[in-house]
Amino acid sequence: MAIDKKYISLFQDISVKAALASYPLIGKKDKIAADQAAVDSMRKNLNKINMNGQIVIGEGELDEAPMLYIGEKLGTGKGPEFDIAVDPLEGTNFAANNLPGALSVIAVAEKSNLFNAPETYMDKIAISSSQKDIVDLNFTTKKNIENLADFKNTNPKNLTACLLDRPRHRKKIDELKSMGVKLKLISDGDITGALLVAKPEFNVDIFLGIGGGPEGVLAASALDVFECFFQGKFIFDNDKDKMRANQMGIYNYEKKYELNEIISGDSIFCATGITSGDLVDGIKFENNSLTVETFITHKSSDFKKILKSNHKIR
Ligand code: FBP
Repeated sequence: MAIDKKYISLFQDISVKAALASYPLIGKKDKIAADQAAVDSMRKNLNKINMNGQIVIGEGELDEAPMLYIGEKLGTGKGPEFDIAVDPLEGTNFAANNLPGALSVIAVAEKSNLFNAPETYMDKIAISSSQKDIVDLNFTTKKNIENLADFKNTNPKNLTACLLDRPRHRKKIDELKSMGVKLKLISDGDITGALLVAKPEFNVDIFLGIGGGPEGVLAASALDVFECFFQGKFIFDNDKDKMRANQMGIYNYEKKYELNEIISGDSIFCATGITSGDLVDGIKFENNSLTVETFITHKSSDFKKILKSNHKIR
């Protein structure tokens, strides 16, 4: 069953309010306080929605996160059953330092349709075409780029690859450089990084590399609506993560997850800009009100838009 369209504006409002809650803490060098403000707002407002919601991706486990922990039930208890993934403040460093790219993010799917991701790193790859076997996590970087260039009928030199600027990506970055690929190295914020493959105007042909697993699932839920290709492989490199994976029913540590294994059925995704970035503009103060932009998708109605909203300052 599809998620009713009325939920689009309801979840947009959740995302916007969380962004507005962290706004006073922008540039205050306190990423924990900025995150907490967004978390508190999301939780308070999610509890007002008529739904039986459950967090599948949140701020951690019950013992480490008092709010929006995995398994937490949200909503009034009246209404549809939803799986909810949240990243109330994506890009905590961006927010603390008043740098571009901080977002408030929420994704909602019908119950049991959103992957219950462990809080580990994930190796990710995304392109705009959903066609299989152009790129794959099992291919070398060289093969992925050559295949993508062939598919786009162009030269690798005309392609742009986005990845987190991290020492763990040194080899990939060197390979991409040696092929003449244009690099878009991001310091944080790989939900945005992955989403940049969704539209040609973002000028990113491929997103790749290792980032947060929860961020991978959130990005996949929007990429699904743009019919993009996304693969993710969780990285379980210690006993604690392997044990946690087992508790979640994951025993094959090498498994690559295809997009339809991460999200299926209907979904809503909202990402509201806090500081301006590549995806959406940040919060702007104009005429005694705050203007906010939210990138929204709703699968069943093929809704994919950036919507602006104005909020009077009281
Ligand atoms: P936070 O908002 O939790 O600080 O995450 C920012 C982020 O850049 C994510 O977008 C990304 O998935 C992850 O951190 C990468 O982790 P690391 O900084 O450890 O490489």
